[in-house]
Amino acid sequence: MLFNVNELLISLSLTLDFAEKDVLPNYTSHGIRAAYVAGRIARELGMPDEPLFDLVSYSLLHDNGVLGALRKNAGAGKPAETAMEANPEHCVEGEKNIRTFPFLSPQKGVILYHHEHFDGSGAFGLSGNEIPLYSRIIAMADAIAVLYAKGLNSDEILEALRRDARLFDPDVRKAVEKLGGRVEFWLGMGNMFVKSSLLSMLPKVSRELNYRQIRSISRIFSRIIDAKSPFTGSHSRGISERVGEICRYYEFDEKTYWMMRIAADLHDLGKLAVPNGILDKPAKLTRQEFMTIQSHPYYTRKILENIKGFEEITEWASNHHEKLDGSGYPYGLDRSRLDFNSRILACVDIYQALTEDRPYRKALSHAEAMKLMQGMARDGLIEPSVTEDMGTIFRNG
Ligand SMILES: [Fe+2]
Ligand SMILES: [Fe+2]
Ligand SMILES: [Fe+2]
Repeated sequence: MLFNVNELLISLSLTLDFAEKDVLPNYTSHGIRAAYVAGRIARELGMPDEPLFDLVSYSLLHDNGVLGALRKNAGAGKPAETAMEANPEHCVEGEKNIRTFPFLSPQKGVILYHHEHFDGSGAFGLSGNEIPLYSRIIAMADAIAVLYAKGLNSDEILEALRRDARLFDPDVRKAVEKLGGRVEFWLGMGNMFVKSSLLSMLPKVSRELNYRQIRSISRIFSRIIDAKSPFTGSHSRGISERVGEICRYYEFDEKTYWMMRIAADLHDLGKLAVPNGILDKPAKLTRQEFMTIQSHPYYTRKILENIKGFEEITEWASNHHEKLDGSGYPYGLDRSRLDFNSRILACVDIYQALTEDRPYRKALSHAEAMKLMQGMARDGLIEPSVTEDMGTIFRNG
């Protein structure tokens, strides 16, 4: 399958937007805007297409560690706010998360050092050219995106950057001074246009990637999803592994196997749009809160449905709360619309959820979970054959 990795990332980065909402309320399209600015700076510096393409990927992913860092800090009892942009922990987390990403030419430290100061006064003490070039460009693009989101106009942004000149690479600053004189550069950053501005400046670097390689990307997003809530700490990972076991048991071909792993990784993508206050609430949910929770597979569908080559993955991933008798959500699809793979994912999701701790109950044992699920299968809610096979496959944990 011919994939443009950055088009895929741009679709998925809608998720990062959601993720940041809990942390950075006004940072809509932060990753996309930073990527656009970074790309423009790189063009100005004369960077060739292939490295520029990687730079855009790095920029889209630059804050992918925010949720992970936030979760860690919350666990350590520190106030969550400290994990925002200012905290180097999100750089460490982010660097770790993207290790498996299929960059054209991967480089160490790009995410780790994206907040380093050119004069050496940053968190890791690197200065000048010790900081990777990509990081120096992202540091500038990030600053511009942040100032823009704060509502500063172009002159105010350029003025603020001049005041903080010591933090940035002088060549990168020069490029920004040049770009800053063009009204088109700023217009392209507006909420309405930033995504299309980025898409239209993206070098056409499509590569033949198989679904196994695409899975190395979806895995990164499954980590981000899992980092959102302490109660779903390894939910997506667990599901992806169990789905893998079932697919092997049914002897699916390699392509379907990896597509199912991707669907499992991304099934709860839409949860990033649900506030933690609702997701982690230990008390009974109000009707409206329950409806908000029920919106998550809808968002999953909306994010995935425009990705070329993800047609089936979208179905499997976003049908995981539908029931065979049509009583599920968000669409109320029934057995005539739910294919076998959608049914597998629905069953594994229930099993995994039952065998995990929740704010309102402890984890169930395999036997307890199977008993409940057999009841659901008898009631015509879930696929009986998959339920029965799961009893065998997951017997030993
Ligand atoms: Fe950052
Ligand atoms: Fe950022
Ligand atoms: Fe879900």
